[in-house]
Amino acid sequence: ESKKRDALYRMHKDAARFFYKKRCAHDRSNEYLRSRGIDDDTARQFAIGYAGSEYTGLYDYLKSKGYKNEDLADSGLVLPDRNGKGYHDRFRDRIMFPIVSVAKNVTGFGGRLMGKSDKLPKYLNSSETMIFHKGTQLYGLNLAKTNLENGRLIAVEGYMDVISLFQSGIRNVVASLGTALTEGQGRLMKRYVEEVVLCYDGDGAGIRATVRGIQVLEGLGLRVKVMKLKNNMDPDDFVRQEGKEAFQELANNALSTVDFRIGLLEETVDLRRNDEKIQFVTEATKILKEIKNPIEQEMQIQRFASRMQIEPGVIFKEIKNDDPKAI
Ligand code: UTP
Ligand code: MN
Ligand code: MN
Ligand code: MN
Ligand code: MN
Repeated sequence: ESKKRDALYRMHKDAARFFYKKRCAHDRSNEYLRSRGIDDDTARQFAIGYAGSEYTGLYDYLKSKGYKNEDLADSGLVLPDRNGKGYHDRFRDRIMFPIVSVAKNVTGFGGRLMGKSDKLPKYLNSSETMIFHKGTQLYGLNLAKTNLENGRLIAVEGYMDVISLFQSGIRNVVASLGTALTEGQGRLMKRYVEEVVLCYDGDGAGIRATVRGIQVLEGLGLRVKVMKLKNNMDPDDFVRQEGKEAFQELANNALSTVDFRIGLLEETVDLRRNDEKIQFVTEATKILKEIKNPIEQEMQIQRFASRMQIEPGVIFKEIKNDDPKAI
């Protein structure tokens, strides 16, 4: 068991070096990275690599280093051929992002196509293996953990978001590897910080992931703030277009989760219509009711009521009325 883990760790480190060397000597990869604004230092910092288009480039290399088929098959880096006789590489013709654990082991990879494809996914991630569990790893935590400004982490969706923010000088950033944020990832964050700023893509999927992320993280007792990016931008787009200072300002003015959730509700109603306004205030009251700190709750209710031009007493009363009667 532990011998196998060891072999898988060594194999992944060898694979990362193999991909890295390929990338350094591969013009199309370097042009691609340049077109995305990534400089050489950053590419080196993240050990960005390239998986060639040969069927067995990595497989042959790892065999030559003495790894056994049995271990290679369990690594997820190679797949059995359809005829069951040999193996071929899982990642082909992709920019490779090694996923590094806090213990500095390479545990998996994300691979991005440089062009567009109808058939292949834009990103391909390692499959679950003995050493790679998507739900308990965070891309970039190995670097972020020594750069925890104000004891908080910024959580983003993608590899490129982490890398681009890091290059701009914002280094307390992690990505959740393409899955919705899991409880395991939340617990991992909790080992390092008390506050997480969610900064997901400004599209529908990003907003849904934010709503879910709030539930998971607050459920674990973490403080959560939300950054909303406009015009379907993601953090990479934003920092490249607007710069580091603008990003930091947005981070410093990140919304409370209550404001974010009430804001989402508000987008679905027309407040000039009385029935919709009543419905909205009723739903918003349920959110205000969840605020645990009584002083903060009082302040938020006052602010909301004055914005709605209603008596705060109505909301206070509603919150009390809603208490369960049986207990
Ligand atoms: P996005 O589609 O937002 O991609 O997916 P991105 O990170 O902005 O990518 P670029 O800028 O086009 O390079 C966010 C993350 O979701 C995962 C990846 O981790 C990606 O970084 N993902 C996305 C996948 O796992 N598979 C996919 O096909 C797409
Ligand atoms: Mn395990
Ligand atoms: Mn997205
Ligand atoms: Mn994105
Ligand atoms: Mn992007």
